[in-house]
Amino acid sequence: MRLSLRFVIPLLLALAAFAYIAVPLADSLMLRWFVRDLDMRSSLIATTVQEPLSSLIVTGSTPRIEGFFNRMLQDERIYAVGLCLDERKAPIATSQFPPEIRCSALETYADAGERLLRSKRGLLHLAIRAVDSETMPDARLVLVHDMSFVERRSEETRRYLFYFFIALGACIALITVIIAQLSWRGWVHGLRALLRGEGILRPTRSTTAPELRPIARDLRELIRDLERQYRPLDGSQRIWDQQALRATLRSELHGNDVIAVSNREPYIHVRTPEGIRLQHPASGLVTALEPVMRACSGTWIAHGSGSADRDTVDRNDRVAVPPDHPLYQLRRIWLTADQERGYYGGFANEGLWPLCHIAHVRPTFRSGDFEHYRNVNAKFADAVVAEAKSKDPVVLVQDYHFALLPRMIRERLPEATIIAFWHIPWPNPEAFAICPWRRELLDGLLGSSILGFHTQFHCNNFLDTVDRMLEARVDRESFTVAFRGQSTAVHRYPISIEWPPAPLATAKSVPDARRAVRERLGLPRNHRLGLGIDRLDYTKGIIERLNAVARLLEIEPRWIGRFTFVQIAAPTRGTIDDYRDYAARVRALAAEINARYPHAKFPPIVLLAEHHEPDAVYEYLRAADLCLVTSLHDGMNLVAKEFVAARDDEQGVLILSQFAGASRELPEALVVNPYDADQCATALRFGLTMSTGEQRDRMRFMRGVVREFNVYRWAGRMLLDAAVMRQRGRFRVAEGVSSHG
Ligand code: G6P
Repeated sequence: MRLSLRFVIPLLLALAAFAYIAVPLADSLMLRWFVRDLDMRSSLIATTVQEPLSSLIVTGSTPRIEGFFNRMLQDERIYAVGLCLDERKAPIATSQFPPEIRCSALETYADAGERLLRSKRGLLHLAIRAVDSETMPDARLVLVHDMSFVERRSEETRRYLFYFFIALGACIALITVIIAQLSWRGWVHGLRALLRGEGILRPTRSTTAPELRPIARDLRELIRDLERQYRPLDGSQRIWDQQALRATLRSELHGNDVIAVSNREPYIHVRTPEGIRLQHPASGLVTALEPVMRACSGTWIAHGSGSADRDTVDRNDRVAVPPDHPLYQLRRIWLTADQERGYYGGFANEGLWPLCHIAHVRPTFRSGDFEHYRNVNAKFADAVVAEAKSKDPVVLVQDYHFALLPRMIRERLPEATIIAFWHIPWPNPEAFAICPWRRELLDGLLGSSILGFHTQFHCNNFLDTVDRMLEARVDRESFTVAFRGQSTAVHRYPISIEWPPAPLATAKSVPDARRAVRERLGLPRNHRLGLGIDRLDYTKGIIERLNAVARLLEIEPRWIGRFTFVQIAAPTRGTIDDYRDYAARVRALAAEINARYPHAKFPPIVLLAEHHEPDAVYEYLRAADLCLVTSLHDGMNLVAKEFVAARDDEQGVLILSQFAGASRELPEALVVNPYDADQCATALRFGLTMSTGEQRDRMRFMRGVVREFNVYRWAGRMLLDAAVMRQRGRFRVAEGVSSHG
């Protein structure tokens, strides 16, 4: 308001000054107009009376002339009329004729052009016109008009003008105040938004105001400077979400050239009798990496394994995904049946998978399989080079299917930042020594700039293995390996899930999910439900879990018919004997346990050995009282984190294997040894009777961890570390030391 007054007062003063000049000006202008009017009027009257007056002059009768003049006075504007026949005599005139107008002085008036006379009566207008008379050639008609009306009008005009200026001033002042207030508010709003940080990174409506742009630009610069100065290099104090990850990529690695490589693709197109259907695979790797790629854009290169995959790509074997709202490109690689059998089924899943997991399944290594493994890695390397838009892309190499790939990329794109992540455990050197191609695998992995594992234990195992098997410099202080003139940082990056998980956005409420699941399974409303969700994999401890349920029913029979354990088991790697055997054993055991209780109203075990899409999985996660994750050995296990993320009601009990990486981050779960059936049964019993308060306390803790240590943080921390390495690498190059990444 005060600011508006600062506008308004000078404005009103200016208006007053304008009025001060304008009113006298208007006065004199009006007077001039009226005089001109009266001049014309007088000439008209003089012309009109010319004839009768000439006749009257000829008669020489003064009374008749005066009578004529008096009749003329009926025109109210004419004040007096006189006739000068001789300049030495008084005029023949009407009674009001001003005595000061003498016939002798008429010429003077005319010469001086004076037409106005101030008399007792007021302002008078004088018009002297010659009368065309033969007898009296010097006759002059004097017409006197009353001009007092001019003064009256001028008075009125002044009044109107005064009111007009007051009204004008008020209007302008009001409009000014309103405009000033509005723009001031806009400014303040925009500035506040800027100070809150809105629109600094991305312009918003309030900050796109052109006058605010320079301020936004300066603030942006200032924030970047401060960030650069004070940012913890490991990103530990950041809140990580999609935007933060995207911003890190742009600001730290200067670009969008991100290429992810994995065997499993995030979207599989399968042909069904109803047409082509989209499938989301059951893969922790995909669950984690997909939101990261949605944030980073770029290209994800993966094996096109779906029956309708070829029908859905363009001529470059690319398809934009997610299909309903594309954010990145999926580039599919086609493998022959032999390649798939050798590289994927053979070397990766019969060799490396059991080698890295302590699940007591013996690894099988065949040189033919390794040949395929090498060829397929080379094929993916070709694709990476083809997809790279720059000479220094960020390449995220995923998992044990691509141990040789980092080196192959490094040789062809020496400036690339290669981040390899090993999603499964890394065994100790003795176990790893079983692999006939151990040196090639280590050499391949050491082509990366960063090699990540879920736990410190696996990092240690890797360093021990390198130390034992290669002529490399292992620095246990910085956890780096220098090999073949280059350096690889080996760090722990516990993987996680996106927060909040996408399926939650469309999920049913917990009570609705509970009702829906129990109805579907034909169970009563208050029936207690335990849940396991896994691939049908021998590392997942499904058999141990079923045995634990059986043991619970033995030690606490009151749960017979009142508690059911639902195992969702996605079929997996069905070409491998060990997997087929395992699936058969699980099926048989589930049936056998159920058969032990023929009279139970409801079965202790429900085995759903089929693929479930994420929405269905989340419905089960929200419906369960307990979730069992009893892996015999697991890099992380994201089902545990998904269960926690799905429970926004802060209820539900997580029973978690001590051999899953997740147990390091979620000690508030009931942590068990899956080989110990009694301990697991006790945990089940404890979980089934845990108070809602305790469930809430534990769940809150775990949700806090998963929220903060989400998958954006996982990727963001690796990118930040890679950026620091790149920077250091440049310094070293400048100093003349060869380096990369
Ligand atoms: C594990 C591996 C992933 C793999 C997933 C599913 O989580 O670490 O790389 O994608 O299992 O296995 P699959 O063989 O079906 O891809």
